[in-house]
Amino acid sequence: MIINGKNRQSIWYDASGDQVFIIDQTCLPHEFRVLPLENLESACVAIQSMQVRGAPLIGVTAAYGVYLGLREGPDSLDRTCHALAATRPTAVNLQWALKRCRDRLKGVPLDRRVELALLLAQSIEQDDIAICDAMGEHGADLMEQLWQEKSQSQESLNILTHCNAGALATVDWGTALSVVYHTVQRGVPVHVWVDETRPRNQGAALTCWELGQADVPHTLIVDNAGGHLMQEGQIDVCVVGSDRTARNGDVCNKVGTYLKALAAYDNGIPFYVALPLSSIDFSLEAGLNRISIEERDSDEVTEVVGLTPDGLPGRVRIAPPGVRTSNPGFDVTPARLVTALITEHGAVEADTGAISALQGLGDR
Ligand code: MRU
Repeated sequence: MIINGKNRQSIWYDASGDQVFIIDQTCLPHEFRVLPLENLESACVAIQSMQVRGAPLIGVTAAYGVYLGLREGPDSLDRTCHALAATRPTAVNLQWALKRCRDRLKGVPLDRRVELALLLAQSIEQDDIAICDAMGEHGADLMEQLWQEKSQSQESLNILTHCNAGALATVDWGTALSVVYHTVQRGVPVHVWVDETRPRNQGAALTCWELGQADVPHTLIVDNAGGHLMQEGQIDVCVVGSDRTARNGDVCNKVGTYLKALAAYDNGIPFYVALPLSSIDFSLEAGLNRISIEERDSDEVTEVVGLTPDGLPGRVRIAPPGVRTSNPGFDVTPARLVTALITEHGAVEADTGAISALQGLGDR
């Protein structure tokens, strides 16, 4: 991704100082800050505090976390994986990356583990870029087709997205936004409707910032506006990401995704989910009521965080003191509401047959 004219990744390794760096996403869009991950603890904190977030990026950070943990103690593989696994519960990419690291490293002699852990993290990082790139190309095929149907009657293809499924949620490109970027590259005039994505506002803070950096026309809307815009004919297609998709095609993603899928279904609007194979939980037959949904702090509901009029970061309380809250971070969209899954291997039906056929394709 190009940030202020410079090509960047969300996470990278700098061999000159043997350091892992991330973009601190809790500072965006107000400040662009790069942060070193010094050790295992800082990798865990980065995931937990959402300095890094988004399912694929959580996985890649965990792989670097394994490297950092082993650098502190080459015999700490189990302890390190255990600490990283406990950071966030929903995105299956975390478990996927840790399993891959553990499987590859457990038989390696201690004196070679650190070196191999680094190579493994770097290859997971580079694979993620290629996977997101491929996913974007496959998604752009679908968008281009849709644009051919619409181009006679309107000025741009209007895509709605929820949360941030962009380059910031992966190493580069993104999942849903990779589809957007590749569609733009093909010359389709794209306009993106961005859901704000309360309570963490990943849409307002991150997606708008990212699309702005890439010069993609977009409009920020409150989470509840999507249904109305669909009824008014202002949304042609929805494209979102996923934190965990079950074998039957049920899609777990940022809370609010389900309501958008319902509204899209009611209005005959295609609803696509762009995801790498590492976001599919092949061990899970179905997703409804079977995925551990992260319950987040009450403060996120009762307070709004942003810049105060004096330009400094601040929090404003919006609910009465002592109010009871509930703050599930994700929800599950049933497969029947999903038009197709866009993977690095192409678009497939959100059903058990098509998804089962993908199993094993991602192993190397
Ligand atoms: O809580 P977050 O910000 O980690 O949630 C991120 C999402 O829900 C994304 O939509 C999902 O990870 C898919 S992203 C590539």
